[in-house]
Amino acid sequence: MRHPLVMGNWKLNGNKQMVSDLISGLNGALQGVDGCGVAIAPPVMYLEQAREALANSPIALGAQNVDVNLSGAFTGEVSAEMLKDVGAQYIIIGHSERRTYHHESDALIAQKFAVLKQAGLVPVLCIGETEAENEAGETEAVCARQIDAVLNTQGAAAFNGVVIAYEPVWAIGTGKSATPAQAQAVHKFIRDHIAKQDAQVAAQVIIQYGGSVNDKNAAELFAQPDIDGALVGGASLKADAFAVIVKAAAAAKQG
Ligand code: PGA
Repeated sequence: MRHPLVMGNWKLNGNKQMVSDLISGLNGALQGVDGCGVAIAPPVMYLEQAREALANSPIALGAQNVDVNLSGAFTGEVSAEMLKDVGAQYIIIGHSERRTYHHESDALIAQKFAVLKQAGLVPVLCIGETEAENEAGETEAVCARQIDAVLNTQGAAAFNGVVIAYEPVWAIGTGKSATPAQAQAVHKFIRDHIAKQDAQVAAQVIIQYGGSVNDKNAAELFAQPDIDGALVGGASLKADAFAVIVKAAAAAKQG
């Protein structure tokens, strides 16, 4: 039985005061919520502060990126062991902003996936097509290619206990979410694609939707059978809106 996971991707936002206020807001608003995993990924700078603020909280800590190297002369990078050391558990990789602005390839992202698994951390593997790819009817081919980078090098078993986030690039930060039916069709395609290699692994893998999820559209997205929570950007910066999204995920899977 899969549990949904709602994760906040804070991106390049915040300062010490905001971290403190937002986490205390979330700790209050999410008390007693059951049946849905919750995680936040603040900027790496604030992970330690966030870890302290999350002591005794069911909210897990996450991060937005990791390097493939474990240590050494790699200026500006952060390793899987460092993330583990400060208590981060869910690590976003392959976000479209990193694919676009930092030219991360499918092969590099697959390497990051392997490094995280090796460290006992949970990859949150972001995949999804651009608007042009969508219009060209290439959505499934793009998602398959991005999944295959891991599947073909590490096998289906590598997807045990991990999270995939389907995030159509045209929906990220645009206010234009995929419709529940559109998202469900792609989620089902992704699950079936993994099931061709291992049905059990496919049945347990969490597939989040991401892209303009907010407190208004979350419930109908989560009502879809293959949508297991969300990766939330903008709306994760507001405790009240994020709490509504988490509660919608918890309620959908109970009903
Ligand atoms: P958004 O971002 O919710 O602001 O669209 C989602 C994401 O980039 O993970």
